[in-house]
Amino acid sequence: MPQSVQTETHDRLATGVAELSTFRDDDRPGWTREVFSEPYRASRSWTAARMREAGLEVHLDQAGNIVGRLAGRESSAPALVTGSHTDTVDGGGRFDGVVGVLGAIEAARLLAAEGRQLQRDLLVVDFLGEESNAFGLSCLGSRSAAQELTPADLERRDHRGVRLAHAYTDAGLDPAKLSEVPWARRPLQAFVELHIEQGPTLEKRGLPLGIVTAITGIERFIASFSGSADHAGTTSMEDRRDAMIAAADAVLAVRAEGCGAPVHGVATTTRIDSASRSPNVVPSLVRMYGEVRSVDPAWLSGTRGRLGAEITARAAGSGVDVGFEWSSDNAVVEAARGVQDIAGAAADDLGLPWMPIPSGATHDAVHMASLAPMGMIFIPSKDGRSHCPEEWSSTEDLVVGVRALLATLQRLDTRESTDNHRSTPQSPPVRHLELP
Ligand code: GLV
Ligand code: MN
Ligand code: MN
Repeated sequence: MPQSVQTETHDRLATGVAELSTFRDDDRPGWTREVFSEPYRASRSWTAARMREAGLEVHLDQAGNIVGRLAGRESSAPALVTGSHTDTVDGGGRFDGVVGVLGAIEAARLLAAEGRQLQRDLLVVDFLGEESNAFGLSCLGSRSAAQELTPADLERRDHRGVRLAHAYTDAGLDPAKLSEVPWARRPLQAFVELHIEQGPTLEKRGLPLGIVTAITGIERFIASFSGSADHAGTTSMEDRRDAMIAAADAVLAVRAEGCGAPVHGVATTTRIDSASRSPNVVPSLVRMYGEVRSVDPAWLSGTRGRLGAEITARAAGSGVDVGFEWSSDNAVVEAARGVQDIAGAAADDLGLPWMPIPSGATHDAVHMASLAPMGMIFIPSKDGRSHCPEEWSSTEDLVVGVRALLATLQRLDTRESTDNHRSTPQSPPVRHLELP
């Protein structure tokens, strides 16, 4: 890419990140733009306009994804798909997902501007609501596209009791038609997502690129602790059945589960709610929310049994009963070998050093992997920080990411087919994410 073009790309990406970050919820910390919120809704017209400016034909699909098409020479050939998301977590940053959407638009713009028409259609997608939301479900848009959003998912309720189906209706989408996504039903050549690493490995190693090997699986739970409501002044410590104590013990059990993983595994308690509002009543009903992740499916599949038994046994010591609601956000998914190889070869060609790297975060790529051979390209995250306002990647690193994405798409375009749809992990398990 000539220097003058790289400078224009650099400036457009910097401006894009800055402009998109102005669509934020002023009442929340950081750069909050949660799915179904007003700032998110407003931001999507901005994103669609950027796609149009880049030369894409844009539509909103039935699942709420914004899709931009750059026509190829053969409209019947399996299409290439790239993209990511523009929603954030509460108190999130400016780069998670945004880099993959703005980077994809920029790659398409460069192809269009330079008259380098691909053989295949290129679809750039801003997927609806990738972050896990008030309904406890991530990747809404890619999940629907892959026909993996279930009727039970639509019955999920947020803390106010609002159903996910209702949130869709409010957003102008028909919950009965979410899977009717024509672009996802056509043959697809490959899906490639550019993303920030969200961890420290690339920065520590001084590498500009990571090529993803596998994406973590996620098991989520809500544990309900039932004890006895008693007077906090008169009930002796021995006679209490204190649900809060059982939950506190369970927090430590969750931590021990993550620490005890033989290969990379993490476990987090994310929230605790007590139904007791009075300051002078022993808590009798506590709900605790948490998740366990690993790129090792064998270990992850055992977590429900191990953690459930441990928490139940600890709670019994306080005379407290526990019930669990478990849900799987996604299984471990390995990136297609063929796409990994092509992305690696593209980076080599550009003289850009890279390393294979597993992802401890989940991504739209998980669901796209059931529709097409899937790959991901990571760029470094400053200090490994993510899901926080300090999240940062330099514009120079973004430009490198776009160059790698573009070269990967061009190589995939000329391939007859890309082998390896979704597959189970074959690479050896890793002890820590930074040591693949
Ligand atoms: C999304 O960023 C996740 O990993 O939960
Ligand atoms: Mn993301
Ligand atoms: Mn995220």
